[in-house]
Order: sequence, then C-alpha cells, then structure tokens
Amino acid sequence: MKPTLVLLQLQCLLCVFVGVCVPSITGSLPHALPWHVSCPVRCVCQIKPWFSPDSVYHEAPTVDCNDLLLTKLPLPIPPNTHTLRLQSNLLSELDTAVLHGLTNLTDLDLSQNRFSHVRTITQSSSLPSLLSLHLEENHLSHLPEASFSSLPALQELFLSHNNLHSIAPGAFTGLDSLLRLHINNNRLTTVDPRWFKALPRLEVLMLGGNPVEALPERGFLALKSLRSLVLGGMGLRGLAEKALEGLDGLESLSFYDNLLTKVPTQALRRVPGLKFLDLNKNRIKLIETGDFRDMIHLKELGLNNMEELVSIEKAALENLPELTKLEITNNPRLSYIHPQAFLQLSRLESLMLNSNSLSALHQHIMLSLPSLQEVSLHSNPLRCDCLFHWAAEEASHPHTEKEQTDAQTARMVRFIQPQATLCSEPPELRARRVREVSSREMSASCLPMIPTSSLPSYVGVREGGKLVLHCRGLADPQPELYWVTPSGLRLGPAPDHAAKGLPAPAPCHNSKVSEGVNHTSASSLSHSQTQDNTPCNPSKRYRLLPEGTLEINKVTPSEAGLYTCVAENTLGADTRSVTVGVHSREKKRKRGMSANLRGFPLFREDARLEVREVGQHYAILSWQSGHNLPSTRLSWQAMYSNAHTPTYTTRVLAGTQSFNLTHLQAETFYRVCLHLGISKDAKYANRRSRESRRPQCVSFRTEDVPEPEPGLQLSPELTSTAVTLLLLALILLLLAGQGWDSQPSDGAGKVHSTLIQEIKSPKALIIKQKTEGSNEHQPKQNEKLLLHEDC
Ligand SMILES: *[C@@H]1O[C@H](CO)[C@@H](O)[C@H](O)[C@H]1NC(C)=O
Ligand SMILES: *[C@@H]1O[C@H](CO)[C@@H](O)[C@H](O)[C@H]1NC(C)=O
Ligand SMILES: *[C@@H]1O[C@H](CO)[C@@H](O)[C@H](O)[C@H]1NC(C)=O
Repeated sequence: MKPTLVLLQLQCLLCVFVGVCVPSITGSLPHALPWHVSCPVRCVCQIKPWFSPDSVYHEAPTVDCNDLLLTKLPLPIPPNTHTLRLQSNLLSELDTAVLHGLTNLTDLDLSQNRFSHVRTITQSSSLPSLLSLHLEENHLSHLPEASFSSLPALQELFLSHNNLHSIAPGAFTGLDSLLRLHINNNRLTTVDPRWFKALPRLEVLMLGGNPVEALPERGFLALKSLRSLVLGGMGLRGLAEKALEGLDGLESLSFYDNLLTKVPTQALRRVPGLKFLDLNKNRIKLIETGDFRDMIHLKELGLNNMEELVSIEKAALENLPELTKLEITNNPRLSYIHPQAFLQLSRLESLMLNSNSLSALHQHIMLSLPSLQEVSLHSNPLRCDCLFHWAAEEASHPHTEKEQTDAQTARMVRFIQPQATLCSEPPELRARRVREVSSREMSASCLPMIPTSSLPSYVGVREGGKLVLHCRGLADPQPELYWVTPSGLRLGPAPDHAAKGLPAPAPCHNSKVSEGVNHTSASSLSHSQTQDNTPCNPSKRYRLLPEGTLEINKVTPSEAGLYTCVAENTLGADTRSVTVGVHSREKKRKRGMSANLRGFPLFREDARLEVREVGQHYAILSWQSGHNLPSTRLSWQAMYSNAHTPTYTTRVLAGTQSFNLTHLQAETFYRVCLHLGISKDAKYANRRSRESRRPQCVSFRTEDVPEPEPGLQLSPELTSTAVTLLLLALILLLLAGQGWDSQPSDGAGKVHSTLIQEIKSPKALIIKQKTEGSNEHQPKQNEKLLLHEDC
C-alpha cells in the first residue's frame, strides 16, 4: 500500500501545480464491491476504494446519486454511508435531519447544484467524520462567520466556481484540520489575511481566478504549513516585496496568467524553499540579470506563453543548484538568450526552448550546463551558421582540441523532435534538419543579425509615457550595440578611434547618458573618460541598458523620429531602424503618426562635409548632420584630366560622422561626396526625405611623396628608375583597386552575406587588406564597395 500512497501524493502535488487536483487513481485499484443495503431509487450503492485528503485508504460504502435532477435528498440513505455523491442535481437545500444521522459520512459531494447559502448545508447538523466537502459550481455569494464550524474533521473544502464576493474574516473558524482550500474562480477582489488565521494546517490553497489586483503584504503569514499556492488568472500586476512572507514551507507557486511585467524577484526571495515556480502567461518583457538567483531548492521553472518576452539577459538564472527542468516556450517575440544567461545550473537536465523566435542557442549555453540531457529547439527560426556550430553533424572544423571535445559534449545532448528542428538561415540550408547539416556547411564565424521580432519598424508611444526599444544581436565574435537617436546622437560604447584625436561622432554619449544607470559596463565607462569635452547637451532621460535596450521616460513629441540600432562586430554590422511616433494626449486618435513626424529632417542644410586631414594614402573626412541618417553613403573618385576612373561607394554606419578614407594614391586629386539618407526600412518617412537629391562634395589632393633625402646619394639614373618603379607600383595598385569588387550592394540595413565565399575569393582578400588598416568605422569586407555612377 505504501508505494501507491507515495505515488498518489506526488501525482497530486504535480496536478496541484498545474491548477487542478483530480485524483484519478481508479485504474490501478480494486474495483467496486457490491454493497447489499436498501439503496435510494435510481442511486447506486457500492463499496468503493477511497483516499482521504491525507492519503489514508478506505473501503468506503458509497451512495452515488449523480445526475438525477434531484430537488431534495433521496431516501433512504443507509446509515453507514461514507461517501454520498449528489453531483449535478437541482438541490438548493438539504434536510439536515437526514444528514445528521450519517455519523460515518466522510465525503459529501454537492457540486453543480443550486445552493446559494452555505448555512442550509452546515447549520444545526454536525458531521463529525466529514473529511471532504464539495460545493463547487453552486451559487454561493457570501460566507458568513464560522460557516463550517459544524465540520470539525474537514480536511478538504471545495468552493471554486461560485459567486463568492465576500468572505467574513472568521468564515473558516473551526477548520483546524483543513489541508486544502479551493476558493478559486470566484469574485473576490481582495485577500483578507484574517481568513487564514483559522487554518494552521492548510497545505494547498487555490486562490486563482479571482479578480484580485494586488496581494496584501504578509497576507499569508498564518499559513505556516502551506506547500502549494496557486494564484493563476488573478490580474496581478506586481507583487509587494513581503507578499509571500511567512510561507516557509512553500514548495509550489503558480502565477499563471497574470499581468506581471517583471519577475517578482524580491517577493520570491521570501520563499526560499520553493521547488516549482510557474510564471507562464504573464507580461514579462525581460528576464533580467539576477531575476532568479540563489533559489537553492528550485527544481522546475516555467516561463512559457509570454507574448511580450523579448530577451533573457546575462546571468538571468544564476546559482540554482537543484534546477532540473527549465521551460521557456511559446514566446513569440523571444529572440535572444544571452550566451551567459544561465550560470551555475549544475543539475539542469531538460531545457525546453521550442516555439520561440530564437535564431540560435549559443554554444556557451550548452557548455555552461554540464548535466544537460535534452533540449528542444524546434519551431524557431534557427540560423545554421557559426552560432549553431556545436549542433552540426561532425565537428571537423579546425578548432582547438578543447573546443572540439566541447562541441562533442554539446552534441551528446538529445534534441527533442529533431525532425522538426530545421534551419531557416542561411538560404542555402533552409529547411534542412539542423542535426543533419555538417559542420563544413556551417560557417565558423558570423555577422551580427538583429532579429525583427525584437524591434518592429514602428513603435507608437503616448506623450508622457515610457518608450522602451529592445535591440539584440547575436553573433560570433560577440557584437557591440549602440543606438542613434533622431538627432544623430550616438548612445552606447564609444568608437575605438575616439582616443586617436579624431572628432568623436557623438561626443557626449556615455557618462552623461548613463547617469543613474548602474548597469553600464566598466569598459564603456572607461571609454567615456577618454572622451574630449566637446560641448553637448544630451537628454538625460535616455537610459541604455547593457544588453541593448533603450529607455526614455516621459516621452515628449520632440523625441519622435527615427532611431537606429547598430550591432557591430569585427566582421561587419547589422542595423535596424525604428520610427517612433509620439501620440499627443489632446488630439484623440489621429490615425497613424500625428504631427510629430511631419518634419523629417531637412538635413542638407546643416551637414557640411569637411576634409580634416590628408596624408599620402588617406584622408579623414568629417561632417555634422544633427540627424539620424542611417543610409548615409560616401563615394569617392580619383580625378584625372582625361581618364575615366571608377567611383567607389561605401555605406556609413548610423551615428558615424567621420571617416578615414584609406588606400588612396599619393599626389592625386580626389572628389568625395556624402549622400545622406534615411534608410529604406524607415517606412514612415516620406519618399523624398529618404535621400537628399544632391550630395555634399569636397575635393582634395593627397600629399606628395617626400623627395629622397640628399644624403642618400643616388645617381640621377637610379632616382629616375626608382620613380619609374614607384609609378609602376601605383599603376598596379590602381589596377588592383579597380578590381576590388564589382558586386552591387543592397544598400539596406543588412550588410552580411555569404561570408565564407567572399573570404575564399582572392578579391575579397584584397578588400580585407584594404580595410584592415583603416579606422574601425570603415566598412568591413562584407560592406561592399561598388562602382557608382553619380557624384
Ligand atoms: C460507523 O462506523 C463504525 C466503525 O466502522 C461502526 O461501528 C458504526 O456502526 C458505524 N455507524 C453507523 C451509523 O453505521
Ligand atoms: C549603484 O549600485 C551601488 C551598489 O550596488 C549603489 O551603492 C549605488 O548607489 C548605485 N548607484 C546608482 C546611481 O544607482
Ligand atoms: C587613417 O588611416 C591611415 C592608413 O591606414 C592611418 O595611417 C591613419 O593613422 C588613420 N588615421 C586615423 C586618425 O585613424
């Protein structure tokens, strides 16, 4: 008998966890036995197996009168009845004298009847043996004081799905033995801590489905024995820090289907014994650093079905030594899990990540989970390139030995539904099964990619509201992210050349912007200290979170416009622009964009292209535009009197306001033009403002090659030979230059492409060389240079 009981308890805890406790145990137990007794008409009288709420087994004489349209108690009820079932009838009152005779009655089921007053059941008659009372799906609206005091042995009380809107403070007085209380799905709007004072032994409390928006502080303090608390479907918007105080024995907690916008970390710290936590179906946008930390007994965590979840940040889950199962599924906007999101989860065995918007699962995540046995990733837009390399069929890439073993370890992990785990990028691997793609087919490094699911092209915000823009980019090497505001202000890590004496494109981003932000990484702070003190006046309301979220509090119409996020690594960059419309409070529902987007920048007026510095083989150009112009291009052309020379064009990343043009020829005139433009993905900008019709141009001449020193004592013939050689070299260089690249650039936000092939081709190698020496904000080899007709 014992093992069955243990099993039952486990089952019950689990089903309590999901919200319903239906003991479905009949299968493995002895069948009903005949009970020879005079039974009420149409009812069935049998001896049936029965478990009390505290899991004691009984062979219970049972009278079953369910579904008989009864309006009063059927007679005669045998005196030794243990279980009386009257579910689904039309009862609104009971002959308490009859009930009174049933001294051995342990289970009374009156669910789905028409009771509107609980006293009609419990008054005068005492039922000293009753352990379980079912009153769910009746018409109860109020519980008066001491409603159940005639039921001293009661262990389980079902009151769910009534119309309860008020419960007297002492309604449960006398229920000293109660273990389970179900008052879910009623009309309660508050939770009164006094209710629970009478329930010192309560283990399970189902409170969900009541329109309670906030729980009181210390509301459950009296429930010292509580193990499971279900608060699903209540409309909770947040949780007071001390809301769960005193629940020292709590093991299972469900917040399923509420309106929480953040993980209630502080409140959760008060329940250190927690093993099962369900936060499914809430409005949480980010799982932030430290949200789940040091919950040393947590075994299972559910973060499913969240419409707004976009990102799981670094160290979001840390030191959960007992966590074995983590479910983060069906979150349509979730596109980013930081490579170090999970730290010290030494026992995690099962990681469910299916049906999100994830492009990959970083290898670091796999390596940080030593006990992982299975992972589900199907129904995600998976990117079969470097980020997913660990999952490829055989790890034959020329990695170091350690990396290879690591990759093999990662591969030991079982994929759930491998036949549905498909690549959706790159195009040539689309629809292939991830596990069947060989590592030779997956590139070893990759460009940043900002997923569209995290950043839509238009975001509307009410004037005075809070604007939150999430930008994330996964890549290898890990990318840096920065934002450019409509006024051209760059927010984020400083560009590398800032210290080299160039005018910094946006001199006042970091330190000032991040005032009051504690997350700002040390590296970006140190950058800001190297900045010169060019005057600027950035809005202090911008707040940049470390993973790439931009927040603006109390938005004003002047903050409307085009924001661009740039994710950049050593291989290249991806950019995404979002138009922010600020809807003014007065004008009711002016469709789409209100007046605030009318004035898209007249950028030509204030953008002046200047030559800052010219060397023999390079020139530094700078410009100030005062606007965010993410599709800006720079083109240049050597000027000879007669020759037709090619024009080269490069895209300039948003927020960049200077450029080191390298690999120029010495002693040559150049004409350089700046084409300012708003990107194509700025759908709300009118067509004309997308690009200025006339570029800004300047001309200059590169420096002369210095005369040979007189001390060198070269013969005139030799000197002239040297000059000839030099000229030859220049011509060769020019020829090489013409062959740089003839592929057209798409000019749009995405600049990555089939990288491997480019690196393999010698042409691309030249481009790589050509750009290596230049400053960090020049295009990388993937940002194609191309021949252009204009200028
Ligand atoms: C109740 O159960 C006890 C013990 O099983 C039995 O002795 C007693 O007769 C029962 N009472 C009635 C009213 O049948
Ligand atoms: C940053 O955090 C430290 C400790 O964590 C705290 O003392 C300090 O006040 C915080 N600063 C700001 C600006 O929030
Ligand atoms: C510009 O590029 C040239 C050639 O690569 C380099 O010598 C020079 O130092 C660069 N200037 C700056 C300010 O980065």
